[in-house]
This record gives sequence, C-alpha cells and structure tokens, in this order.
Amino acid sequence: MKATARAHANIALIKYWGKRDEALFLPTNGSLSLTLDRLFTTTTVAFSDAPGPDRFLLNGAEVGGPQAAKVSRFLDRVRALAGLEVAAVVDSINDVPTAAGLASSASGFAALAAAASRAAGLALSAEDLSRLARQGSGSACRSIYGGFAEWRRGTAPDGHDSHAVPVAPQDHWDLRMLVTILEAGPKAVSSRDGMRETVATSPFFPGWLATIEQDLAAARSAVLARDFEALGTVAEANALKMHATMLGAEPPFTYLKPASLALWDVIWALRRDGVPAYFTMDAGPNVKVLVEPAHAGAVEAALRACPGVVDVIACGPGPGIAETEGPCPTAG
Ligand code: PMV
Repeated sequence: MKATARAHANIALIKYWGKRDEALFLPTNGSLSLTLDRLFTTTTVAFSDAPGPDRFLLNGAEVGGPQAAKVSRFLDRVRALAGLEVAAVVDSINDVPTAAGLASSASGFAALAAAASRAAGLALSAEDLSRLARQGSGSACRSIYGGFAEWRRGTAPDGHDSHAVPVAPQDHWDLRMLVTILEAGPKAVSSRDGMRETVATSPFFPGWLATIEQDLAAARSAVLARDFEALGTVAEANALKMHATMLGAEPPFTYLKPASLALWDVIWALRRDGVPAYFTMDAGPNVKVLVEPAHAGAVEAALRACPGVVDVIACGPGPGIAETEGPCPTAG
C-alpha cells in the first residue's frame, strides 16, 4: 500500500492551450514536448487504514487549502479505479536546483499518478498512466515518457484516446533547454483560467487552432530528422501564437514581463549573429531557450547577462517515469 515514483518535468515545443472538456482535461489540440533531466518530482504515496483526511507534504511541509484538495480529488480517481476507501499520505519532493518557484504540475501529477496507482495495487500500462496523469494536470500526461512525447488530442467524449505517446527516446538527440528564471511574483492567472478565458473570448483562438496540425507535423518530422533549425523555428512561432491568443481575450491578459521581451531580443540578436537559438514560454514569464550543446555555454552567458535574470538551469533530455518499487512501466 506504499510506492514511490519519480517523474521529470516537460516543456512543450508545440503547446497545449485550451480544453474542450474541463472535467476530463481533454484538450482542444495536440501538443509535443521535451522531458527534462534536471527538473523532477519524487513522490511517495502510502494508503493506510488510519481514519481522517488525506495528508499532503510538499518538500517536507504540510500543505492544505486548494492545493491539497486538488491532490485529494486526484486520489479519489485512483481510489475509484482500485475500489479503495482508505486515506493516503502523499510525500512529495520537488527537485529544482533553485528557489525560484519552478514547481511543476507536470512532474508533480505524473509522479503522483504512478506512485498512487502502484500503492493502490493497480498495475497500469504507460498509456493508462498517461490518461490518469492527464486528469491531474493536462501537461502531466506527457511526463510519463522520456525524450520527446506527443499528447494526442483524441476525439472520444470519454477521453480514452487522449493520452501521450513516445516520439523519440531520451538518447535520440542531445539538445539543451536553458530554463531562464526571472524575478517574478505569484502568477496572476492560472493556466486553467487563462485557457478558459482564451477559448471563450479570444477572436485569435480559431487562428491558433487553424495552424496547430501543421505545427505538430513540422515538429514531429524535425525531431525525427534531428533538424534543429526546423524544430526551433516551429517551436518559437507556436509559443508566440499561443501568447498572442491571450492579448485578444476579454479581459486581456499576458504572462509576458519586460524581462521576457528583453530575452526575446537577446535570442533574436544571437540568431542574427549566426548562433542558432530559439525560445518558448509557458503560462509564466520565464523564457526557455532551445540550443544545441555546442552553443549552450555562449547562449547561457548571454542570458545571464540580462537584467532581471535570477538563474539559468541548463537541462538536457530527461527520462520517463520510474518507480523505485515494482517494474518500471515504461522504458526511456
Ligand atoms: O496542464 P497545465 O495546467 O500545466 O497547462 C500547461 C499549459 C502550458 O504550459 C502553457 C503549455 C503546455 O503544453 O505545457
């Protein structure tokens, strides 16, 4: 009734932005990501007969409120699958080599899905784990796999065909993702609310959806062909399109900060000087830069020299989900 699992964060190169079913976490579009080696979450789940509510510890400190309620709701799904009615203690460590608040819901819910399902006695396939993790946080379904993974949108109303699939394993292509941490306060708009507002009100949202399939196809073939320029070009353009949808929302909002824009300029200037580097951004101000290993040192130095940059975490491709007890549900 106790199991531990580790999952690594992933960064989307083609973004998930928009839900077609909020309760089941079904996306309006497919997405494609790179799992990262240096950012991960290790979670132990223990079910016991002890009465009382679930307990959730994050980095050793007891967590309550909406965050704990979200974990409990997720555990309810696992308990329903396993036919259990017992409470759990969830002990989760986020391994992020900085204090800059890069806590990842993707690695968090992927690790929780694997540890909780194993502790409940379920032996889920990688595909089933991906479906389950999706229902904690959409992006978590991609963290089941190492290297490059694609979350297939699916079309079924029950979501059975909406899960991640591996595109290429961790050792397929040695790239760097430089995760640049900016000074920032708490997020003003959660990704959940941001997506909902954008889908409901932005006239740019149909434009976002209109080009997503061609972006996915371009990214998929660039990964398989190890074509860096093609992958960087489509990833950066896709991120910019996603952020543009928010400016059209009513009320409008943005995750961009002045320092984010300053970093775009740094990257564009590097490219003009012949250094291939491309950026992507998620539901926050941090800028993530995709670069080949030969250029990683120079690009990292340029990023660190930018005002407002607190830290740069240089990541490589990471592994898929791993359990410390029982067989690993997926390789690579
Ligand atoms: O599943 P969430 O709530 O972590 O949503 C993630 C949304 C983006 O990070 C903006 C894009 C993505 O595909 O990860």
